[in-house]
Amino acid sequence: MTVPPSSSSATAAPAAAQAPALSRGLAAALVLAAAVACIVVVALVLPSARTDPYTRQTLSLQGSVEHGALLFRLNCAGCHGIAAQGLVGPDLHGVAERKNQRQLIQQVVSGRTPPMPRFQPEPQAMADLLAYLNGLV
Ligand code: HEC
Repeated sequence: MTVPPSSSSATAAPAAAQAPALSRGLAAALVLAAAVACIVVVALVLPSARTDPYTRQTLSLQGSVEHGALLFRLNCAGCHGIAAQGLVGPDLHGVAERKNQRQLIQQVVSGRTPPMPRFQPEPQAMADLLAYLNGLV
């Protein structure tokens, strides 16, 4: 009960002739869609992932070293030492040379490096802490 090849190719020929043109059009549309998706990711998603609104706001504020030092003594000195000389947590002198501003903010707010807890300071308080950390040379 096999269909002779000649009869099937005779009816399939017009469709086969159209298929490449159709798939070329489809491929072009897919490439275009992929390109648009890439542009959207590069232009919109990546920058906002690199700089979330919290970080952006924090970095736009002027920090107070004095208030940062106070916040540090209250929240951080138990682990990093009263003069940030290191205790349970590492010595933080020169930390701004090891980590950039975004990384310092992430260190404080992410909770990704236990036992250091996750802090949620207001942007102004974070800016003050940052000013204090930047001053630890
Ligand atoms: C419960 C203890 C603890 C407290 C409280 C704590 N930390 Fe930490 N911190 C650590 C530990 C432990 C590390 C090292 C984490 C690691 O990299 O594995 C660390 C790392 C850091 C680093 C990175 C140091 C480096 O050399 O890269 C910074 C900056 C920092 N802490 C700032 C703070 C600030 C600011 C506060 C207060 C808001 C704070 N920490 C509170 C324990 C603590």
